[in-house]
Amino acid sequence: MSSIDSIRHALTDPRELEDTTVHHEPTMDDDGRPTVATKPMITPALFHRMRHDKSILALVVSKTYIFAGTQGGEILVYSLDTYERVVIIEGHRGSVLGLCLSQDEELLFSSAGDRIVNVWSTRTFLREYSIYSTYDVGDVFCVSYSSTLKTVYLGAQNTSIQWYDLKEKDKRPRPKPTSHPSFREDRFFDSSGPGGVRTPRRQSVEGGPRHATGGRLLEIDKQYICQFAHYGYVYCMLLARGIISDDPSEEILISGGGDGVIRLWSLDVTNGGAIRELHKLEDGREEGESVLTLALDGTFLYSGRLDGEVNVWDLETKQLVRSLKAMTGDVLTLSVGGGYLLSAGVTGVVEKFNRQYESVATFQAHNHLILASTFTTYNNRPIFVTGGNDNTVAIWDNVADIGCVEHLFESLKQFVSYRTVSSDPRYKGDCRRGASYLRSIFKNFGAATEMLNTEDPFNPIILAKFRGNPAKSASRKKILFYGHYDVIPAENEQGKWIADPFSLQGIDGYLYGRGASDNKGPIMAAIYAVADLIADQTLDSDVVFLIEGEEECGSRGFAEAIRRNKKLIGPVDWILLANSYWLDDHVPCLTYGLRGVIHATVQVESKHPDLHSGVDGSAMLDESLKDLVMLLAKLTGTHGRVQIPQFYDPILPLSREEKRLYTDITQTLLRGNPSLGDPEELATSLMRRWREASLTIHRFQTSGPENSTIIPRLARAALSLRLVPNQESTEIAQMLTSFLDTEFDKLGSQNRLTVTIDHQAEPWLGDFNNQIFKTLEEAIMEVWGPTRGRRKSSVSAAKSLTDKLGFTSSKPSPATSNTLANGSANVDDAPDNDEFSKPTTLARKPLYIREGGSIPSIRFLEKEFGAPAAHLPCGQASDSAHLDNERLRLLNLYKSRDIFKKVFRDLPKK
Ligand code: BES
Ligand code: MN
Repeated sequence: MSSIDSIRHALTDPRELEDTTVHHEPTMDDDGRPTVATKPMITPALFHRMRHDKSILALVVSKTYIFAGTQGGEILVYSLDTYERVVIIEGHRGSVLGLCLSQDEELLFSSAGDRIVNVWSTRTFLREYSIYSTYDVGDVFCVSYSSTLKTVYLGAQNTSIQWYDLKEKDKRPRPKPTSHPSFREDRFFDSSGPGGVRTPRRQSVEGGPRHATGGRLLEIDKQYICQFAHYGYVYCMLLARGIISDDPSEEILISGGGDGVIRLWSLDVTNGGAIRELHKLEDGREEGESVLTLALDGTFLYSGRLDGEVNVWDLETKQLVRSLKAMTGDVLTLSVGGGYLLSAGVTGVVEKFNRQYESVATFQAHNHLILASTFTTYNNRPIFVTGGNDNTVAIWDNVADIGCVEHLFESLKQFVSYRTVSSDPRYKGDCRRGASYLRSIFKNFGAATEMLNTEDPFNPIILAKFRGNPAKSASRKKILFYGHYDVIPAENEQGKWIADPFSLQGIDGYLYGRGASDNKGPIMAAIYAVADLIADQTLDSDVVFLIEGEEECGSRGFAEAIRRNKKLIGPVDWILLANSYWLDDHVPCLTYGLRGVIHATVQVESKHPDLHSGVDGSAMLDESLKDLVMLLAKLTGTHGRVQIPQFYDPILPLSREEKRLYTDITQTLLRGNPSLGDPEELATSLMRRWREASLTIHRFQTSGPENSTIIPRLARAALSLRLVPNQESTEIAQMLTSFLDTEFDKLGSQNRLTVTIDHQAEPWLGDFNNQIFKTLEEAIMEVWGPTRGRRKSSVSAAKSLTDKLGFTSSKPSPATSNTLANGSANVDDAPDNDEFSKPTTLARKPLYIREGGSIPSIRFLEKEFGAPAAHLPCGQASDSAHLDNERLRLLNLYKSRDIFKKVFRDLPKK
């Protein structure tokens, strides 16, 4: 066996693999930039990576899906739109080595190390047929299907090519189930080794892979076998049309083998699709080396071999046109598309050749072997897909000169790359550069832009105005979109991020990066929605963007700058923002309320310096930290009830209409995740967070060295109060200060108290019956359509975490945002085919929700412009905004763009 044979063989036989394969954790920091690139214009860029736990050996793409065959016998099905895994078909007992589709893409054929070819419906993902030979064929390396002859061809390890004419299936005698390979002993693999020991076959409880059931068993008749089709393993096959005769529909089969030979076969229509050798392509070498992969480009055939050898054949003259030396090591897969040839192999490198066979790019696509690749065009965008034994499928953009990159993703990636952290003065320059980049995006789409200065040293605000169709100028309405380009810090010192937080990475259907969800992704979706309307010439309203850079610090300088530039901004009819999340991961929501917030610092300071507790500690000394603790203890009673007099008085009672919204919410959430418990309790927990005020002590800070003998001179605490509508933030701030002053006086301490209000934000309550909410609702229903119904009960993640950490309490923990996010993650982690096949059929209304978080500028903008605001949450509960691994689902990004597009288009017509 040559070295490549042993690689191939090791990958195809799980019995060998268990001992020899090292499993590599995929490292995601590899962004796939080329190591050598002669023409940077055509450098492929990594767009997305889907991770699995086993090697990817085969790939095929339909118009909607990517199918990936794995070493574990599964076929992974991914959406070509969002790269989410739609289904896992547990289809074979051995590695899936070959995949192909029928021309109408209704049938998927999989060949495997278990000596079987399975045929699947691409609609239901159920098995239609299972084809096998009564011979011990060994691994079935490849499969091809002639849609004209309805005949399946398979190429096997025992050097044979075999076929089955599906038109004949009803005429053939029913096979005996005992002749099925899973019931037969394999002479080679199943023989007992020295001492009579035999490796046990992998067997699941039911005796086979979960989805390898149903459909009809079809046995290949002896007359439909061509033994010794090659003097070596039959590694690869292709069907080609219109090559030999002038009839464009005539098909021929091309096979490549371990004997180094390529054979062309005619298919006999009258004889069950039987093959007959037409030609043999040889390069004149006495002893050929294995042909491992084939690719077709019109009438040119490419074959890949050991050590980077790629041969170019002219099928019309049957001549070897050229021999290339690819820098990819042994060539395991070749793909053709967009006028390029892509070669990949054992080094994990892909080399790209142009029509003149000049190397135009090389890039590291996988950490180890690349075992499969394919090329396709989706939404006019050329896409290259690779799979390897680093257990990932990678999607490459910018592989051809036409159509090129996914612009929204590219722009967002670039936007995320600026460290626009407003809370850290070190990033002041980055904030400005990020703002200027965003401005350039607006300019490119034709907006009139302006940088609005805020009071020094705060970050500027970008004002961008898109003018609607001038023909409609008399009736033109104006929508103001508010967002923020600043983000929360993400230093990633502990390496907890899946990838660099400032380099946006597409992984498993999600985009990971700081700001992806809060708020850069939604801003980019809104800009691209306007750009779509401009391109369609259907932008009839004016859309004005106000994107600030200080939101995460309480919108410092915003109000003043807006008031100063009010004329420039002009009148506004509606305000729209998109800076929050759904309640779980499945049901679209609309947000009509936010809490306000007051951030305060409470400081107690004494005249004496930092002291030593042993030397100076005495009842005579008023210690700053002790004073501070006593003082803060006065603020809340048991279970966090705020003790400031009249604090809760302004809170509005629950209206009947609002109560109905909570019923809708709890019913929907419980349907998806019954373990959330009692609906009343769930509603109460939501109300506590959305329509009631709360107080949090965030952290303490003390002066002096951090050792256990210090009596600090100064002690400080950061606290915040979340406020709800009807609580005036200035009034509450005043109440807080005077309460603390009074209580401190009661202590009779010699120390000094200072209370500082760092910033404050007013709560916001929108009118969810108004025109803008109605338009958003219609758009959501149209764009999201029927959302997936979830009926699987899952153990509450919060409960299991509580159990794990050993908390004991008779009182159940309240549901938090985390419970809702984790509850949904449980379901996504274990998708199963039954669930996929039963989505709910009706488009459902979004849930109307409020939020516990705050956005300082909303109420301000409403008042300033006398216009109502509405809030479209783009992200899911599991987005982890402000935390490690912030992300946004690609699907949510795309759908949000479509929703904005409809709203910008339809709202002015109302
Ligand atoms: N996007 C959030 C607001 C938010 C938080 C909405 C949670 C929904 C749920 C916003 O970017 C934010 O972080 N706001 C700060 C404001 C504060 C710094 C004045 C907040 O809520 O703490
Ligand atoms: Mn935020």
